[in-house]
Amino acid sequence: MKIGVIGSGTMGNGIAQVMADAGYDVVLCDVNKEALERAAKTINTNVGRLYKKQGKELAEATKVLARIEFTTELSPLKDADVVIEAIIEKMDVKKKVFQELDGLCEGKTIFASNTSGLSITELGASTDRADRVVGMHFFNPVPVMKLVEVIRGSDTSDDTYEVIIELVRSIGKESISIVDAPLFVVNRILVPFINEAIFVLGEGIASVEDIDKGMMLGANHPIGPLALADMVGLDTLLFVAETLLEETGDSKYRVPPLLRKHVRAGHLGRKSGRGFYQY
Ligand code: NAI
Repeated sequence: MKIGVIGSGTMGNGIAQVMADAGYDVVLCDVNKEALERAAKTINTNVGRLYKKQGKELAEATKVLARIEFTTELSPLKDADVVIEAIIEKMDVKKKVFQELDGLCEGKTIFASNTSGLSITELGASTDRADRVVGMHFFNPVPVMKLVEVIRGSDTSDDTYEVIIELVRSIGKESISIVDAPLFVVNRILVPFINEAIFVLGEGIASVEDIDKGMMLGANHPIGPLALADMVGLDTLLFVAETLLEETGDSKYRVPPLLRKHVRAGHLGRKSGRGFYQY
């Protein structure tokens, strides 16, 4: 099976790695040549580290990278069985790529999107193959996280869905099945949970450290909600929280003012050196 991956950033390079590691031929495509070079280095380092940890031959690790073709062109994706899109989270940009692929790829090719919450139904409707468009939502870091959410748009066919469920299984990951809805399942539950922790902080009920300690020791979470927010990036979290509120129009998803305030101040979490914690 030949797998195409579009976008070689945080998620795309991880997806290319796990696919090549499972033995698939992979084409990794990005408009940015430097992003592809960075992806090749990242994959090389990560596979090397992983194989060392697992006690596997390092010569085998180089074979993983050799199974990936790095390109700035879409044309090598023509005969792919599945193309997984992992470019920026903007509907119009994703639609443009899907329409271009629709004209280029053979009829058999399934288009999967790694979107965090944009509508799979809308993406599918922008092509002439809505039955072969599906959501495949990986989690960060891709080589470590076990879950892939598989999302069915209104017109996703049973055949498409089954091919993707089997693909997820074949790379050693677990799937959950979801009907297209804003933020799917994990983030739909996680975002209001993190938001609530920020409200609790904003209302002066407890300190950052005590809120996180409370959820770690009282609810057995491996990481506190505010530390997790800093990891995700507060700008990303704000964007996703706003999407959930807009899409549902439900005030229970209101965005905590303190989150907005931190983003406006440029305190974005780990990536900027300061969020709810100092780094
Ligand atoms: P990123 O910014 O790290 O990488 C995006 C890559 O796409 C960049 O290298 C960029 O050059 C490339 N790109 C942009 N437009 C393109 C085009 N038209 N054709 C080819 N390449 C193009 O982004 P990241 O974080 O990897 O996110 C990608 C997608 O995955 C988004 O939809 C995001 O919502 C989703 N996602 C992100 C997660 C995360 O934790 N970062 C988790 C799960 C999903």
